[in-house]
Amino acid sequence: MTTQNSEMPVDTATYRRRRQILEDYFDKTASETWARLTSDSPVSGVRARVRAGRDEMRNQFLDWLGEDLTGRRVLDAGCGTGALAIEAARRGAEVVAIDIAGSLVEIASERTPADVASSIDYRVGDMTDPSLGSFDHVVAMDSLIHYRPEDIASAVKHLSTLAQRSVLFTFAPNTPLLSLLYGAGKLFPRSDRSPAIVPIGEGRMRRELATALGNPGAGEGRTHRVSVSFYISQLMEVTSGT
Ligand SMILES: C[S@@+](CC[C@H](N)C(=O)[O-])C[C@H]1O[C@@H](n2cnc3c(N)ncnc32)[C@H](O)[C@@H]1O
Repeated sequence: MTTQNSEMPVDTATYRRRRQILEDYFDKTASETWARLTSDSPVSGVRARVRAGRDEMRNQFLDWLGEDLTGRRVLDAGCGTGALAIEAARRGAEVVAIDIAGSLVEIASERTPADVASSIDYRVGDMTDPSLGSFDHVVAMDSLIHYRPEDIASAVKHLSTLAQRSVLFTFAPNTPLLSLLYGAGKLFPRSDRSPAIVPIGEGRMRRELATALGNPGAGEGRTHRVSVSFYISQLMEVTSGT
């Protein structure tokens, strides 16, 4: 596990502020909650459904990446406790997995089975750091959902400069149910409630991408929404050459 002396190309005050809040939250406040949610340990009904939704989303990412990732380089941007990085490595990818929350990266590293450990390079730092290198795919599962639409698009733009083939990321779609759920703070108790998720309409997300990447095609990628009662998230793809 390496700590990056992170460069942060997305240089808006809102991105920096949000990133600091998220680092404090995921590294300290919710580290244990998050470790439990992403483990096999029993959890309450609501969290069990969130877990099921997240499993479905992870499988969708893997489906779009492909069955055989031998020889591919994948950046797991905001890897949390490492589930997607581990699955990508099992399919043959060489993975760099980075997160700003060092405690989660440590858990990810501990959870990594010995047979894929040499295929995953864990880092602590900012996902958009250009020194991370060059990849075939960048995946960002639920790691941009707390940022403003402009900052998500700007982060995706920087991630796309690292990716030869595709960037897959999720945003929180602007559905009445999602607003209600997160507004009511149903997912976590008040003591470790998550920083607000920013719901975004699909059309807005597409327009922001087209603007940030300076290319209308960048906003026209395929998309897939997962909606499992308490978990609602939408996957979107930006391919290189669009
Ligand atoms: C909701 S969790 C998702 C974790 C993981 N992708 C998963 O699906 O299990 C969001 C993660 O993104 C990380 N994160 C947020 N902003 C980041 C940034 N700018 N650079 C790196 N990691 C970031 C957080 O620390 C947190 O671990």
